[in-house]
Amino acid sequence: MRVGILTGGGDCPGLNAVIRAVVRKGIRDGHTVAGFRNGWAGVMEGHCFELDLENTSGILHRGGTMLGTSRTNPFRTDGGSGKVKAALEAEGVEALIPIGGEDTLGVAGRLWKEDGLPVVGVPKTIDNDLGCTDFTFGFQTAVQIVTDAIDRLHTTAESHNRVMVVEVMGRHAGWIAVHSGIAGGADAILVPERPFDVDEVCDRLRRRHETGRTFSIVVIAEGAMRQGGEGPSATEQVTDAFGHARLGGIGVELEHEIEDRTGFESRVTILGHVQRGGTPTAYDRVLATRFGVAAVDAVNDGAFGTMVALHATEIRQVPLEEALREPKLLDEALYETAEVFFG
Ligand code: F6P
Repeated sequence: MRVGILTGGGDCPGLNAVIRAVVRKGIRDGHTVAGFRNGWAGVMEGHCFELDLENTSGILHRGGTMLGTSRTNPFRTDGGSGKVKAALEAEGVEALIPIGGEDTLGVAGRLWKEDGLPVVGVPKTIDNDLGCTDFTFGFQTAVQIVTDAIDRLHTTAESHNRVMVVEVMGRHAGWIAVHSGIAGGADAILVPERPFDVDEVCDRLRRRHETGRTFSIVVIAEGAMRQGGEGPSATEQVTDAFGHARLGGIGVELEHEIEDRTGFESRVTILGHVQRGGTPTAYDRVLATRFGVAAVDAVNDGAFGTMVALHATEIRQVPLEEALREPKLLDEALYETAEVFFG
């Protein structure tokens, strides 16, 4: 069979590990593999090349994606889904493996449902907010990067008696904020799932400083919102092809508000795309490899319209529709565990 593969949406450490796994397992099972460039944009343009053992060697540990990526949405492009079908037919692609998050896999789900396109999704996002899988690859690497940053911020916070506000990624969900906050010993963690009240945050910091502590670490997800507020802070009003605003800046607002209200000198660090760059952790390399192999198994089984997913220690096939129904939000119990260490 000729199998196509694409990477869409924001990049994520581990994408190359999935590509390598699909190619190695695919060739071993008698398939050929076509790599489409730049997500759905490359599929619509029929922009692809042959992936083989040679051009996918040496990429396991590399961040980014050798295929390139984009946030192009065929359903927002004139005749987009027709172009996808025509390009796959022209290339003789009989099965397509899109690697992506809610947007890229959302397109795959629609193409499967509306046009019967044979797709098997692989879940990717550093945000870890895709349904039906315990973890997405890339998340663990992002958490490690943030934790390393918090460790560094701790020593400078301590030296200057400052409040350090750390803004991390997480559009709908606070998984990165909570995991790295627990690992880094944060004194407050603000997430999209729990709108915050800045006065409460300041009270908590004051109480902590009254017990003799002279510095604090506050982790805030970019998608965090104020109680009664309208929505997360966006850097621009324009939205992407999937209707998402470019988030960012809530940390800057919080830094000023904390300093003004408490008088504690504060500084903000926005980690931004550093969280998505560089080499994947060993955990993410293994998970990405397992997902890639399992995606080819799903193609062999004819299990189209599914996504490979991690359930405890097993990789399973779940219906794409179910995985995409709603974002996977924070586990309440995990947040309560983090709270034990606040203030
Ligand atoms: O979806 C993953 C993510 O990293 C979000 O956390 C973030 O809001 C978004 O991508 C940023 O996207 P871009 O790289 O297009 O600015």
